[in-house]
Amino acid sequence: MDITPEGGARFAENPLENARLCIEIANDSCCDCGDFHLRSVLRRIAVAPDSKIGDMHEFRAMIMLALARQQRSTRPIRVAIVGSTDTGILATLLQSAHAVGGDPMVAQLAVTLIDQCATPLALCKAYAHNCDVELEVVQADIQRFSCAAKFDLVLMHGVLPFFPSAQQHDYMTHIISWLSADATLISSTHLGRDPDRTTHARRTELAIANLQEFADAGLGIDAKTVASLTKRLKDSPHGRENERSVFAGLDDATEFYQSAGLALQSAWVVHHHAADTAKFNRKYKQRCIVMGTRAQT
Ligand SMILES: C[S@@+](CC[C@H](N)C(=O)[O-])C[C@H]1O[C@@H](n2cnc3c(N)ncnc32)[C@H](O)[C@@H]1O
Repeated sequence: MDITPEGGARFAENPLENARLCIEIANDSCCDCGDFHLRSVLRRIAVAPDSKIGDMHEFRAMIMLALARQQRSTRPIRVAIVGSTDTGILATLLQSAHAVGGDPMVAQLAVTLIDQCATPLALCKAYAHNCDVELEVVQADIQRFSCAAKFDLVLMHGVLPFFPSAQQHDYMTHIISWLSADATLISSTHLGRDPDRTTHARRTELAIANLQEFADAGLGIDAKTVASLTKRLKDSPHGRENERSVFAGLDDATEFYQSAGLALQSAWVVHHHAADTAKFNRKYKQRCIVMGTRAQT
């Protein structure tokens, strides 16, 4: 088994193309999310794909383990991605599938991406098209989405803090109900509160600097667009995920998932090195990744 992401180099992301498309559709989408995607996609132009999310290696390893369990199956492997900033989670899935079972396993995937915002759906559709992979996209609030057929694998990365605090448990129970009997859910969430309340401002500054560089490089954005998007980014509210901490520690996390109906197979804390946290402008020092199946009732 080839465990390197290079095994799936065909699925490399294109951060500049993501930014270009994000800017192109910015007036029609990405409004209700407080320009979360516009800010993140512009900021990520200068972030290596593997460093975008703090626990990329661990998250990928979990996906590979879940897919390896499906290796003998010959029917489509139905995967749901619950919310996505850009093409990162989809690329991680495709690279993982390629590493586990090569092109045949990638072809076996039937992926559905659900997000309330149109921007990540558009980015992932374009990316999937370029990779020659089928992708269903659904613009909906997670709580309103009901799947026609149950999923074999559900991926959630950093989405829980976005759900309204009082309803996080209901959202989780609902998502777990999408799992088929032997399906796997993998969820990663930060632990603790943002220790540094200036992160949002720093991230906005980086996004604006990249936007200006993008324009200076002659990549087809005029000064008027730069000015209006810069204003939007400066005016957009502090991301609501920054206000929220779902879990203080691992015990809270396991209690939450179990009471929502997940039979845990593993739950662990990923610690970022302090140097990495500063270098990659990460907000949190720890994340918690859980993997589980739907508890039998
Ligand atoms: C933090 S992002 C996912 C981040 C992930 N680490 C990544 O890199 O792709 C959370 C996503 O969930 C979406 N989202 C939040 N609440 C939602 C809801 N109630 N229904 C559907 N999508 C939601 C947001 O629009 C956003 O795209």
